[in-house]
Amino acid sequence: EGHSVPSIEGLTIHSTNEKSKFPGCYPSLNPVDIYREHIAEAVGKAAGIDPQLVYSKIAWTNSLDKGDLTLPVPALQIKGKKPNDLCAELAEKIPESDLIQKPVAFGTHLQLFFKPGPLTKSVISQILANKTTYGTNGNLGLRDPSDPSKGKKKLIVEFSSPNIAKPFHAGHLRSTIIGGFLANLYTVTGWDVIKMNYLGDWGKQYGLLANGFKRYGSEEALLKDPINHLFDVYVKINQDVGAQEGPIKELKEKIKAKKEKNEDATAEEAELEKLVDASEDENARRYFKSMEEGDPDALALWKRFRELSIEKYKQTYARLNIDFDVYSGESQVSPESLKSAYETMEKSGVTEKSEGAVIVDFPKHKAKKLGKAIVIRKDGTPLYLTRDIGAIVERHNKYQFDKMIYVVASQQDLHLAQLFKITELMGYKEIADKCQHINFGMVRGMSTRKGTVKFLDDILRDVADKMHEVMKKNEAKYEQVEDPLKTSDTLGITAVMVQDMSGKRINGYDFNLDAMTSFEGDTGPYLQYAHARLCSIIRKSEINLERLSDADFSLLTESHAIDLARYLAQWPDVVVNTAKTLEPTTVLTYLFRMTHMLSSSYDILRIVGREEQLATARMALYESARQVLYNGMKLLGLNPVNRM
Ligand code: ARG
Repeated sequence: EGHSVPSIEGLTIHSTNEKSKFPGCYPSLNPVDIYREHIAEAVGKAAGIDPQLVYSKIAWTNSLDKGDLTLPVPALQIKGKKPNDLCAELAEKIPESDLIQKPVAFGTHLQLFFKPGPLTKSVISQILANKTTYGTNGNLGLRDPSDPSKGKKKLIVEFSSPNIAKPFHAGHLRSTIIGGFLANLYTVTGWDVIKMNYLGDWGKQYGLLANGFKRYGSEEALLKDPINHLFDVYVKINQDVGAQEGPIKELKEKIKAKKEKNEDATAEEAELEKLVDASEDENARRYFKSMEEGDPDALALWKRFRELSIEKYKQTYARLNIDFDVYSGESQVSPESLKSAYETMEKSGVTEKSEGAVIVDFPKHKAKKLGKAIVIRKDGTPLYLTRDIGAIVERHNKYQFDKMIYVVASQQDLHLAQLFKITELMGYKEIADKCQHINFGMVRGMSTRKGTVKFLDDILRDVADKMHEVMKKNEAKYEQVEDPLKTSDTLGITAVMVQDMSGKRINGYDFNLDAMTSFEGDTGPYLQYAHARLCSIIRKSEINLERLSDADFSLLTESHAIDLARYLAQWPDVVVNTAKTLEPTTVLTYLFRMTHMLSSSYDILRIVGREEQLATARMALYESARQVLYNGMKLLGLNPVNRM
């Protein structure tokens, strides 16, 4: 179960051993760091304070008109002067330099603008040199940034986690998209990332499924399409359960009525016992019991279902650029882990007996809002929550993680809050503190055009079909696309993912096929188009890409060119900021701002018919923009297309 060296297909992660006197400052990986160093020194000198105190206070701006960086003067905590006055005074004292313009005092904020010439040169050169590394920073994930030999911090990100033989619903889709993104994000910031899928693969329903398979299953269908076949079997056997429930319920009522009238119900009771004994529900219970007891035959069938399902999941995940390091699951929590959890919970006084079951009464442990939870049923069996309790400790023992993220829908907020609280109460506060629930809102109305959705593959196929229709509308272009079906598939996946990642995670959204597949607005197809257009410009020009770094960047004088370069300089900082927000929209918002700037530049920064020196400088800018867009899309888990 070892995991591969953390990497993202298409991106390279670099670290550096250059040392700055400022923490987290790596000019060879982030061009803005040069400016931060410079500004910290300049402000420190003007204010008569240690530049170290300035460095960490330098902040990002929301828009380019407010500067490239800003310094909130009150944050410097210099006493004796009004912040407004101090700000004006600093602006007055700090001279223009070779890197920055003279600062602008704006209220209590010092606005800092980079000088265009040196910026375009350093940014474009760095992007052309670092390519797929630009924006990554392997130093951020080090346990001790001053001593790489102490190794990387280790993260487990648990995500997707569907339930075998049940639909892969919108919650699983979001968990997959967001989890895949988080895994990438931590990887490019230098963490050692383990991607874990915690399958719903254990419980009475797998007894039901096994029995259902004996009745309705087909070996051939199982091999051909395990996920859909097992789901069909599950639906059928559940119908049987439903059909048997009626008579059982009727009989129970009859017995109750008779007893109330003090009549003899022995005959009915015998009949009830027979009915229950022969029911699929009881059969399932018995089958699952034999699984729990380790019966090899019962386990063999279940294991095949599990393995075939995983094989199929793997193919679907591959379409989303995701591969898991570990397929864990409810079934994989060891009996020893459960036993030890029971004992620890009892010893630490977390649990108590209640009507034959074992429960946690949270209000008694200063956690009023968490209510009560059962951890061992009357019949002695564990629950969903119990397995998570066993698993959290088991994983910590096995992986010694520095952090663990659970990417699960906000419907399970209570579940995870209970899990973390119990872990803490058991005496494992240090484990609980390392864990984080990354939650998200619901997708409304996710269904295929033909009806309700069952599986991710159906959704992806549907969106790809729609994308194919959209592409066909532009005949001339359509003709030029090499493999239209493959392209429409990639575009469809991009459409779904970008729609999912556009808002804040906690907000739900409507699954809107027309909106997500449109080329207008901030959509996936728009991003892909922006990338393909850049590729096309580069293809069509006769400029040798190898020579771009020798271009004369001083020819990039138009405000469009300069502003585009200013955006491109921000990318490494956007990655750092995203590592704080853990929101895919932080990346997307940036990519859309940058590509909008790009779109409005094409008319002004033309290449065709321009003199070679100028054309080469502009091409270097475009190639840099393409590289940043590519790196950003890859970080999100998208596959940038070169033609569409
Ligand atoms: N299989 C669960 C479901 O579909 C999600 C599992 C979330 N992870 C966890 N450790 N509980 O609802």
